[in-house]
Amino acid sequence: MRVRIAPSILTIDFGRLSEQIAAAEKGGADLLHLDVMDGRFVPSITFGPLIVASIHRATRLPIEAHLMVAEPTAQLEPMAAAGASRLIPHMEAIGNEEGSATRLVEAIHALGCEAALAISPETPAEALAPLLDTLDGVTVMTVHPGRGGQSFLPEMLPKVTMLRTLIDERGLRTSLEVDGGVKAQNASACVAAGADTLVAGSAVYNDIETPQQALSTLRKHSVGS
Ligand code: DX5
Ligand code: ZN
Repeated sequence: MRVRIAPSILTIDFGRLSEQIAAAEKGGADLLHLDVMDGRFVPSITFGPLIVASIHRATRLPIEAHLMVAEPTAQLEPMAAAGASRLIPHMEAIGNEEGSATRLVEAIHALGCEAALAISPETPAEALAPLLDTLDGVTVMTVHPGRGGQSFLPEMLPKVTMLRTLIDERGLRTSLEVDGGVKAQNASACVAAGADTLVAGSAVYNDIETPQQALSTLRKHSVGS
């Protein structure tokens, strides 16, 4: 299994946005992970559809929008129109109303996008089990959502293993992504737990290596079984 690597641009130098995105593309990134924060679901505010559209014009890489927003439904159409091909709202932002998660997934598919759901550390993997068959992907947060550069939470890995087991048992093609604190040191543990996609922000964009060097190091450490 070839593991996909999705750089997150949260720790990028926004003054050199297109150059830094081109570096990720040259470095062999598989897709771009864009962290949309609204200052409500998480305290920070990052960017909206306008910036997503500029990034979409600047790269051939597919874009996934990680929606850390309190009202995901309102962001679906603008993000799809901006060029995101996968939309990842948070399970915690979806009300408990019967069928609300299914309706959200259907709304994303109706826009022609792939639908994934993210779970924060406090949400058990079981919460996703009833929806797995309808999802193109799941994202297990390995930090508390809200900023880049945090330390990886290894206690989240059993969730990844559980979801990998469910996905394989059901013969699904649902991708399994980990997001937060992923580094060369823990990449193989993520893959061994069952992840097939690694989001990496500060591991790719930092002052020590170029994005190309960082991606090649990460790639070496994330070889699947
Ligand atoms: C955190 C974001 C992550 C973050 C990853 O809320 O969802 O995508 O940017 O950055 P690192 O890899 O530095 O934790
Ligand atoms: Zn993210």
